[in-house]
Amino acid sequence: MKHIDSIAHVRGESQYVSDLPRPEGMLYAAVFGSPVAHGRIRKLDISAAKALEGVVAVLTAADIPGDNQIGPLIPDELPLAEEEVHFIGQPVALVIADSPEIARKAAGMIILEHQALPVITDPREAYRKGEIIGNPRTFRLGDVEQAWGQCDVIVEGQCDLGGQEQLYLETQGCRAIPEEGGRMKLYSSTQSPYAVQRTAAKVLGLANHRVEVDVKRLGGGFGGKEDQATPWACLAALGAWKTGAPVELILSRHDDLKMTGKRHPYSSDFKIGLSKEGKILAYRVSHYQNAGASADLSPAILERTLFHSTNAYFIPNVEIFAVSCRTNLPPNTAFRGFGGPQGMFVIEAALAKAAEKMGLPREELQRKNLLREGDEFPYGQRAERVQIGTAWSILKEKYLPSIRQRVDQYNAAHRAVKKGYAVMPICFGISFTATFLNQGSALVHVYTDGSVSITTGGVEMGQGISTKIADIAARALGIREERIRVESTNTSRIANMSPSAASATADLCGGATLKAIDQILERLYAAARKELNLDKKAPCQIRDEQLLCNGKPTGWDWRKLVEATYFSRVSLSAHAFYATPGIHFDKSAEKGHPFAYHVYGAAIFEVTLDGLRGTYRIDSVKIVHDLARPLNRVIDLGQIEGGLAQGMGWMTVEDLQYDAQGRLLSNGLASYKAPEVYFMPDDLETTLLEDHENRFGPYGSKAVGEPPLMYGIGLFFAIREAMKAFRPGREYGFRVPMTPERVLLELYGDESQAAVVKNRFAATREV
Ligand code: MTE
Ligand code: HPA
Ligand code: MOS
Repeated sequence: MKHIDSIAHVRGESQYVSDLPRPEGMLYAAVFGSPVAHGRIRKLDISAAKALEGVVAVLTAADIPGDNQIGPLIPDELPLAEEEVHFIGQPVALVIADSPEIARKAAGMIILEHQALPVITDPREAYRKGEIIGNPRTFRLGDVEQAWGQCDVIVEGQCDLGGQEQLYLETQGCRAIPEEGGRMKLYSSTQSPYAVQRTAAKVLGLANHRVEVDVKRLGGGFGGKEDQATPWACLAALGAWKTGAPVELILSRHDDLKMTGKRHPYSSDFKIGLSKEGKILAYRVSHYQNAGASADLSPAILERTLFHSTNAYFIPNVEIFAVSCRTNLPPNTAFRGFGGPQGMFVIEAALAKAAEKMGLPREELQRKNLLREGDEFPYGQRAERVQIGTAWSILKEKYLPSIRQRVDQYNAAHRAVKKGYAVMPICFGISFTATFLNQGSALVHVYTDGSVSITTGGVEMGQGISTKIADIAARALGIREERIRVESTNTSRIANMSPSAASATADLCGGATLKAIDQILERLYAAARKELNLDKKAPCQIRDEQLLCNGKPTGWDWRKLVEATYFSRVSLSAHAFYATPGIHFDKSAEKGHPFAYHVYGAAIFEVTLDGLRGTYRIDSVKIVHDLARPLNRVIDLGQIEGGLAQGMGWMTVEDLQYDAQGRLLSNGLASYKAPEVYFMPDDLETTLLEDHENRFGPYGSKAVGEPPLMYGIGLFFAIREAMKAFRPGREYGFRVPMTPERVLLELYGDESQAAVVKNRFAATREV
């Protein structure tokens, strides 16, 4: 089955927040954001904005009836600034007007007078100055200090990873509609309806039950709306509360880029020690996370960096240090992988440097250290049902020899253009690292005409959760998918839901859906057994909409079964709750069993690099990915390819730039390049490992959303290999993204202009 929304999407019929029919008298909001990255507010002049015709209200922190506080983990974030501003674009005032144009124009007329305070944009500088969020954390296994002495090879280095813009097509936005009895209804583009509900309620000073949040679908989230949809929903709600009219706040692309947080840039130091046979004996890494101006989800993201710092390798002696550093950038936030990719990049860099020193192919070192059954992760969990060996062998047998040979032959025959390849294994833990979030609910109604309505806490953001829920339900009920409707996500139908994140939504909400359906099936079967005078224990099932009991047809179809149950006055609705079993984590010991399971896989990249221009082409990507029993092949392949595209974009072309004053330079789609269709290789092949069932996923499936992003890391190393083939003997760094500009800097950077020209000419002549 294809994506449930695909037809409506293609016809342009799918509705996002701003497509909903406009209620009478709706007003529009625009945000005035701080023009400076750090300062004390001296005066905020809203008089000109207020006087503009068509402006209904200009609201500031003083207008907030409840708490002016929205920090999700630490109370350090204000919906509207009070005394200080901490990043450019930080909301300071909200203009409500008759049209979005007037609101924006008025916002542009607000003047903020400030006293400048020092601006920090670099995480290491923040760390030195004691600007940290939460406590630094260290994961340890074995004893690194003692292990260095046994190493034959030790290398050290530094990695600098850029951030990444989520670039959802639908920008942040919310429509707030005041309802009778002092209630507020919010249509928000959020991955976390409950976070919007409880935070808006807090800002308005209301009980949660007076705020209802409804989410039909998002035009993409990618983590950017896990938490950062909340501020805009709170502001829309504030506007509606103060004016008594419906208010819509939709960020322009420009404001969205400027005001919202992105993937965290990291700067990390590593030291790795190996035996001469290539076994990693010790690994030490320190991660400095650029959190931006407030905590947002940074401590949770930092935690996942800690968890994934050894990627798919077993290392007996490990010390992982990580600290979240406060800077004057927009609060950085969730992005597919949630800190995992940053941790994984560094071990790959360490292995690359070690391989260079040892004169071995990088993949030899990778292979020798892959996780095996029962190996201990630095956080105490042991690896179970490890699929990385299988994925690696398939890749090795199917692709590696021919790619190696092709690259060698090509490089022997070409001077200025070189090929490179790299293998990238992944191991990604599935479960929210905050154990309590691993819960999901579902509400299932069967109507007397046999149609079915399902609400879960899962938010559709393009990843296909609605399709998967429909798939699961149709399979469990034994009926056609057309009978099933997956409803909008709504806080009045499902309470206290976790965000749709951590790739876990199908596991959690799918698990809950199965439990709700089980309850309904039990009731349907009991009613049928009674009506048909069958034994109370007679086994029943529905197959192709026909009821079978004792393995034999009963002559009843789905509709008859539903009607009969209804007439016997038995409920055709059920609510169910699912909580992932067996997971726990002790933060004081930094040990536990945080993940229900891991997703494994490996990819191989082949690239061609033009050493004169710095440009490169991705020739092929071959992936072997472990999904256990895929829930929906088409959607899962889409997730794998989409995740890969984002990972590759992060590694290469997505160049997020701030100046020293904290101003976003890549502030539009003309200066921030994202991968598009031509960037993707024509030759992209995915093999699914389907050799086992996962106990923790519906119908034996595994989560798919985030892990494939991390394959993208391999592209960096493939390009690096091509650079090494072009100019061997140079030291290449680990700076991400590897844009064509960066390639040239790495190839020629420390040379004089004349030498660069000479070198280029030399290479050209050889061509
Ligand atoms: N796919 C699409 N099309 N759009 C998205 O916003 N978000 C990703 C991933 N795939 C996203 C996506 C992220 S960050 C996560 S955590 C998962 O989907 C969330 O959905 P899931 O839990 O259903 O996998
Ligand atoms: N992943 C994604 N989002 C989260 C997590 C996580 O592990 N923990 C809290 N929010
Ligand atoms: Mo995904 S970063 O967990 O929303």
